[in-house]
Amino acid sequence: MERTFVMVKPDGVQRGLVGEIIQRLENRGLRLVAAKFMSVEKSLAERHYAIHEGKPFYKGLIEYITSSPVLAMAWEGPSAISAVRQTMGATSPIEAAPGSVRHDFGLEIGRNLTHASDSPENAASEIALWFSKAELVNWKRETDRWIFEK
Ligand code: RTP
Ligand code: MG
Repeated sequence: MERTFVMVKPDGVQRGLVGEIIQRLENRGLRLVAAKFMSVEKSLAERHYAIHEGKPFYKGLIEYITSSPVLAMAWEGPSAISAVRQTMGATSPIEAAPGSVRHDFGLEIGRNLTHASDSPENAASEIALWFSKAELVNWKRETDRWIFEK
């Protein structure tokens, strides 16, 4: 079982897509672990996107992510990291596969609606950055055995 960090970015929230994005993750069979609706402090945005510091799009990315509230979440399931990235689609909506969130709702890379962790290491560090241990809910779903093989 893997956990991954997922965020509905400010454009997703402003456009009323929070429910749609959660629905797609629920439909996929992933299990919600944590959720927090919040404004993002510049310092948190800088830590989250530290890997992109110095890149041409970095300043705009920090401005974008701190411009309006986001929904921060953790989800779990088998291969949750790749499953969520597949559901979200490629970084640029123009290259994202039809049926993915970024394809179905987006056009521009700087307004691509969601974030999702890209590796087990980054998932662990991002979940720890955005949530305290107490905010992560360990629970079982009645449907788990019909979705998870083990
Ligand atoms: P994310 O981290 O947000 O899930 O997106 P990602 O892995 O698909 O893409 P990443 O390379 O990590 O880039 C992080 C975010 O920065 C913005 N970006 N803009 N203008 C550009 O060339 C450019 N490249 C990246 C996007 O908002 C991207 O999601
Ligand atoms: Mg990324």
